[in-house]
Amino acid sequence: MTDEGSSRDAGDDLEASTSDASLRRTEARSAQIEAAIAADPSRFRIMTGDRPTGHLHVGHYFGSLHNRVRLQNAGVETFVLIADYQVITDRDAAGPLAERVRSLMADYLAIGLDPARTTIFTHSSVPALNQLLLPFLSLVTDSELYRNPTVKAEHEATGGRPMSGLLLTYPVHQAADILFCRANLVPVGKDQLPHLEQTRVVARRFDERYGRVHPDRPVFPQAEALLSAGSLILGMDGTKMSKSKGNTIELRMTADETARVLKKAVTDSTRTITYDPVGRPEVANLLTLAGLCSGRSPVEIADEIGDGGGGGLKRYLTEVLNETFAPIRARRAELDADPGHLQAVLREGNRRANEVADATLDDVRTAMGMSY
Ligand code: TRP
Repeated sequence: MTDEGSSRDAGDDLEASTSDASLRRTEARSAQIEAAIAADPSRFRIMTGDRPTGHLHVGHYFGSLHNRVRLQNAGVETFVLIADYQVITDRDAAGPLAERVRSLMADYLAIGLDPARTTIFTHSSVPALNQLLLPFLSLVTDSELYRNPTVKAEHEATGGRPMSGLLLTYPVHQAADILFCRANLVPVGKDQLPHLEQTRVVARRFDERYGRVHPDRPVFPQAEALLSAGSLILGMDGTKMSKSKGNTIELRMTADETARVLKKAVTDSTRTITYDPVGRPEVANLLTLAGLCSGRSPVEIADEIGDGGGGGLKRYLTEVLNETFAPIRARRAELDADPGHLQAVLREGNRRANEVADATLDDVRTAMGMSY
């Protein structure tokens, strides 16, 4: 294939980024990065985000949110994107976006993201970020896009509907999300690794084609993944925890609502509780969640509940889960009651994101010979 001045085939890289060997390398590298952060957090800038598709749940919390707060508190400058343009990639209707953005803001602040240290912003509010999509699209080929495993998976999930141009190109848009603020670290689950590889390809090709503005460094850095555990827990029906399936425990739920959802959680007909992820996935899932909330091991909890059965397990889980999330929920309720504050925080985040994006776009114009 004709590659942008490079002999590497990025399509293969994208697929290879999810292979076992590559995954192990990424995992090993993530451990090194953690050590480097502990030594000097100022070397890093983190970029990550969520699609505003519904309320965040405990799966998100233990899979990624908790980790974001930890990295922020370790002193790494952090950008968190509410990816409102990304929700229109694979759906006809984006849903009540303003409400969902507000709910995400409340979730973020309630879990401890601190607007003084973390810039929270929305895609649609940052024109210069979106403008990067044009030069970036010129650096990728259509066959790379068609081979992106995430694009393929999301297209399959739409049930055979024709693919929109935006779905096909959204990995390049995501590259703009990461590169507009020149982030060098992206905490993501492994499903997002092909996007990160695409981002590195775009950054490298931009350097090869347009060169530098500051001689000592390329316009865009090579961003690395900081692999997070991803979704550690299943929904309360034993299938993937998902906002659209109604099987979630949302951060915003009350203690009573949580108890009601857990009462209906699927277990099995064996009375004695044991931790057996393969043979008894639903019970193991509840034990894992109880372990994450209580800081105890799932095996220890299973032994303690023993003949208490599914009912005993659910009672214990309800107690530790409600206890763990009580402070977050109390803060969230306060935030929810003050929409003016949430809006002010988002506006300030957007202002700061625009400042950063404008500076990057200036460099891009200079490199491309388009400063008039
Ligand atoms: N694609 C991510 C998801 O579906 C959300 C996202 C958008 C993102 N832009 C990003 C994540 C940039 C990391 C970096 O969850």
